[in-house]
Amino acid sequence: MSRRKKIYEGAAKILYEGPEPGTLIQHFKDDGIALNTQKQEIIEGKGVINNRISEFVMTNLNAIGVPTHFIRRINMREQLIREVEVIPLEIKCRNVAAGSFCERLGLPEGQILPRSIVEFYFKTEQGNVTLVSEEHVTAFNWASTQEIDDIIALTLRVNDFLYGMFSAVGIRLVDFRVEYGRLYENDMARTVLADEISPDSCRLWDVLDNNNRLDKDRFRQDRGMIGEAYTEVARRLGIVKDHRLVAAQNEGA
Ligand code: TMP
Repeated sequence: MSRRKKIYEGAAKILYEGPEPGTLIQHFKDDGIALNTQKQEIIEGKGVINNRISEFVMTNLNAIGVPTHFIRRINMREQLIREVEVIPLEIKCRNVAAGSFCERLGLPEGQILPRSIVEFYFKTEQGNVTLVSEEHVTAFNWASTQEIDDIIALTLRVNDFLYGMFSAVGIRLVDFRVEYGRLYENDMARTVLADEISPDSCRLWDVLDNNNRLDKDRFRQDRGMIGEAYTEVARRLGIVKDHRLVAAQNEGA
């Protein structure tokens, strides 16, 4: 498709060399992958929707002073981002018990948590994502204590912002996963939000019907209508108007 140098290809995204030093192009694919790659499927239009939702969220987070790697959207599937040194952790923030949290602690799905909980996970070379403590994070030098503090504070700010944004359109933010990177400016490293925020990385339940899942659980649990659910999130946020518009934009991507 292009002669740009590919830097990295993951399950749902590709990173290409950017037009200027210190920049990258983040390309959103339609691939759905879950259960440690055992489940794979093309979800038509997913990349287009996730690019738009992530642009919307990152732009608003930048506006309230949460530093992110996002610079601007380039086209329907791609965005220009700052190149960061990836902090090798996945950070999950939970408001309501669901998914692996229920399995680990034996809690019923849907139980409201006493407060928002921020967790650290490490992805092993074998691809297993494991819950780790702050002790592990500092002992293995994955992040410093200052970075841990920054990550927790930023994640709680992101949570407050997202919770309010989704509540306003009748969606309950159950949990989400984010990643961070180091942005070097004159020898100083700043912790910035990286990767994406989209229905691939959040649990989003319709407030009027907890069983109406508007996120990747539709794919993980074979509930179907995945593209429609993601489009519904974008439509409620006022990012896209309807399915036909998305389909037309998709053809032009
Ligand atoms: P979990 O309950 O399966 O640990 O997931 C918590 C949140 O993290 C949920 O919003 C989905 C998101 N997540 C990802 O973004 N990528 C993943 O690989 C997994 C397992 C979860």
